[in-house]
Amino acid sequence: MASNATTTVTAQDAIGIARAEETPLLRVEGLRKVFGSGGAEVKALDGVSLSISSGEMVALVGPSGSGKSTLLHLLAALDTPTNGTVYFDGNLLETLGERDLENFRSSAVGFVWQRHQLLADFTAAENVAMPLLIRGAAGRPALQTAQEWLTEVGLGDRAGHRASELSGGEQQRVAIARALVACPRALLADEPTGDLDEANTESIFELLRRLHRSHHLTSVLATHNLYLAERADRVLSLEHGLLKQGDGKFTRRASGRAASGTSSAPEGLG
Ligand SMILES: Nc1ncnc2c1ncn2[C@@H]1O[C@H](COP(=O)(O)OP(=O)(O)OP(=O)(O)O)[C@@H](O)[C@H]1O
Ligand SMILES: [Mg+2]
Repeated sequence: MASNATTTVTAQDAIGIARAEETPLLRVEGLRKVFGSGGAEVKALDGVSLSISSGEMVALVGPSGSGKSTLLHLLAALDTPTNGTVYFDGNLLETLGERDLENFRSSAVGFVWQRHQLLADFTAAENVAMPLLIRGAAGRPALQTAQEWLTEVGLGDRAGHRASELSGGEQQRVAIARALVACPRALLADEPTGDLDEANTESIFELLRRLHRSHHLTSVLATHNLYLAERADRVLSLEHGLLKQGDGKFTRRASGRAASGTSSAPEGLG
């Protein structure tokens, strides 16, 4: 551990700074999203620029209606911006054709919704296997992969149960396994613990953190839970469709991945 964290540049610092200078995995510039038109216009995002490095776990906070879900949807190419650009690993999403976009949605990013959105009458394994089946995988290997993911999220013994037979916390574990089954590089989670009690909130957050590390993910979690948010590498705060000043820059925080302290590294924005 550095004896003087404010002045000593450790090897870990150097690694953190080098990572910050790499091409960010996720980058957006001048992102605006306007719903409706005329008098009914809603500016969900009003010019957001940010950059997220590979391996970072970022919490996205802000009051209801501040644009968190809208931003996650744009990062996942589930929606298109009114203005501005989204880059994934340096690739401009708007230049991708429909087929490449489908591939991107199904394999580059995994998405976890607040209300899991499982198919109630399908088993846990079938739900997890679904993204692979949709991409054309054969049934047996897809179900085998799903079983492995269910084991990884602690539900190996519930693979044959229908989603409707599982508790809220278990359903969210299935949803996380489904989001990761295609081995995406980024995990985007929209209030993944929003509907859970305190104990389940903690265990789902710890599961996300464990998977983030063990699968070398880049994660963005929208949450209203500031206690959870503070445990991410970095917190981004949205308000009225705008990031609070300075939030889009790369700032190292205590995480074990980078050195402790909150000193600013070079900006991640290109
Ligand atoms: N499809 C839509 N049509 C019209 N307005 C929309 C649409 N989606 C979102 N909005 C509006 O955009 C703004 C941002 O919504 P968004 O869902 O991104 O907020 P949020 O921060 O995720 O809120 P919450 O914390 O309640 O989930 C809100 O005013 C919302 O009403
Ligand atoms: Mg939302």
